Amino acid sequence: MMADRSYSDTQRLDARDKVRGVALFAADDVRPGMLHGIFAVARIGKGRLKSLDTREAQGVPGVRLVLTHTDMAGIVPAGFLMGGGFAFQSFQPMLSDAIAYRGQPIALVIADTLEIARDAADRIAATYAAEPFQVELDSPAQDIVSQAASPLPKPMFADRVAGDADAAYAAAPIKVDMHCASPPQHQNPIELIATVAEWRDGTLIVHEGTQNAGALRAGLAKQLGIAPDKVQVISPYCGGGFGQKNSLQMHTVIAAVAARRLERPVKIVLPRAQIYHDTSFRPASRHRLRLGAQPDGKIVAAIHEIDSQTSRHDLFPAQYADLSARLHGIANFRGHERLVRTDVQTPGYMRAPYEHMAAFAMETAVDELAYRVDMDPVALRLANDTQIDPISKLPLSSRNLAECLNRGAEMFGWAKRPMAARSLRETDGTMVGWGVAAGAYKAATAPAIARITATDTGRIMVAVAGHEMGQGIRTAIAITVAGKLGVQADSIDVDVGDTRGTPQHLTAGSWGTATAVPAADEAADALLASLRVLGGAGTPAEILKRAGRPTLSAEIRRKAPGQPDAVFERLAGGMPAAQGPTYPDFAAFSYVAHFVEVRIEPGTRRIRVPRVVSVADCGRVISPRTAQSQMLGAVVWGIGAALREESEVDPRFGGFLNADLAEYAIPVNADIGSIQVAFVDKPDPRINSLGVKGLGEVAMVGVAPAIANAIHHATGRRLNRLPFRVEHVL
Ligand code: MOS
Repeated sequence: MMADRSYSDTQRLDARDKVRGVALFAADDVRPGMLHGIFAVARIGKGRLKSLDTREAQGVPGVRLVLTHTDMAGIVPAGFLMGGGFAFQSFQPMLSDAIAYRGQPIALVIADTLEIARDAADRIAATYAAEPFQVELDSPAQDIVSQAASPLPKPMFADRVAGDADAAYAAAPIKVDMHCASPPQHQNPIELIATVAEWRDGTLIVHEGTQNAGALRAGLAKQLGIAPDKVQVISPYCGGGFGQKNSLQMHTVIAAVAARRLERPVKIVLPRAQIYHDTSFRPASRHRLRLGAQPDGKIVAAIHEIDSQTSRHDLFPAQYADLSARLHGIANFRGHERLVRTDVQTPGYMRAPYEHMAAFAMETAVDELAYRVDMDPVALRLANDTQIDPISKLPLSSRNLAECLNRGAEMFGWAKRPMAARSLRETDGTMVGWGVAAGAYKAATAPAIARITATDTGRIMVAVAGHEMGQGIRTAIAITVAGKLGVQADSIDVDVGDTRGTPQHLTAGSWGTATAVPAADEAADALLASLRVLGGAGTPAEILKRAGRPTLSAEIRRKAPGQPDAVFERLAGGMPAAQGPTYPDFAAFSYVAHFVEVRIEPGTRRIRVPRVVSVADCGRVISPRTAQSQMLGAVVWGIGAALREESEVDPRFGGFLNADLAEYAIPVNADIGSIQVAFVDKPDPRINSLGVKGLGEVAMVGVAPAIANAIHHATGRRLNRLPFRVEHVL
């Protein structure tokens, strides 16, 4: 019965269902009697409602209900996810006449059809008492706050300090002093944020694509004043999360209130433009990073100072220095972060939320240092490698960054790169540049309960904490369990993102696979032990048939190394409970190296990225196909972050201006050339039984600085504000 684990190139478990449209996302959900909701939104940057006239909207045939703040008695905010609550921000729109930011919902129209709801929403007339506001990080009157003002745990906000960075920098013979900045960006998942809410016998049933079914359940129970066991959240598929779907959204409770009033299922699909204002996004940030080094390239000091955007009502933490302190072996480090309040919804986590920009600051500075000491940038990074975490001083559980750099250099043909900038030029004037950058991301894991049920029909059911947002968690779970039980992966049904299965909480921070897969693996071990008690050989189905048992179940719970049993209470309560990068005896990160070629057309100065090579150390690779897909997507995302994406604001109006996929530029197929990816694929001996570290976020860390460094190599220009546009290389 025991088979070798198979790491063959198994296709996505849900591929056929997705291609055939069988996999139902929340927006696809159609039920008898279902009604449709659309929000009317605030048209000022900040202030209060003076009046709200819904009479004309209510008179449109087919309109069933118009909800405003006067209809929300008894509803309370769910609280800020990063402050012990469940929602992406503490501010719940439509509980009062307050307008915190442009685009905030002020009324919900429910109608028989989407078209009627949209028409009626346009007929809602509001008047406002406007107040001053600011939406830019660099606005003249900046409201800068210390992170120490936050009620969140203090270690989160402490300056990252190792040694004496200021003294070491002052004494260093070589100094690099870099400033850089990034704009706000929005995730733009292809699946719009959508909810179907329905009440059955006093129980609220919510179908919504989310990374955090547990928080939706706990948060909605709190908002509605009902017991959590009266809320079911069903999220079998999430069409892209990227952090934007990591918590309770603002519209969900309003959908629940409408469904309760009307005693009908209510669907809300936020239009793309509303997603820019109603959900979280990547905050703008600005950085100063100073490196002190010796002539041999040894970096002796780094000082990283960051200002990061937050909202007026929440302090979204800034933890950029966690990456810059730990990517290289730098003995003296000081990282200091401040927050800048702006009148927008609270920003949040967007794929590699801190690491993307922290690596941009660090890795462009390291590239600059390479020129200052006349050293190859790969060799310079290898000279600053470490096996000890500079902040915790603990050994790193596994760090194969050197192998990522060496293999990537080999695959890319890096040895042929001339050091001098502007030295690769085609006869037609095309400027060519080759750049490299490294990345890291914490290897976190979280507690999980996994239940596995074998049946005498041959189907195996696995229920575990986790969410399928396209990253392939189902496939990784199925491959692992199938290998252990000696059955085919397609005989496994994986139940994730459903509060009716096992307790659910946040799937984020690249801990999904490293959490759910070892848990499912241990549950399979427990099932095997029970099958052995029944006796005999064969598949689980054969053993059950012989024993006359239709089903047999096993359940395990596992937590991250060093976590107390109390984390299972957090898990049951839908609260985040991940551990990492620091554990009691070690620190753990995933690593990546990116090698990039850029070509800049002489006439238009259009920047192209025809070729990327990326090598990742994510511990053991469980599902090669979906892991490769993660890498490809992350490189494309990094190209977007470097060359395209910017959420534009206008200080006169507030909100985000380019709130659609026509004007929020992202890379299209024609922008992408060759992307070659490889994995070190060495199990991490300490982080979990399977040796799995995370991949989804580390994969994009370093893409943007590799592009910046390649542009520098091509042009001699050191670009420091993302995204890079034609006008920056004229
Ligand atoms: Mo991710 S940005 O931690 O969902």
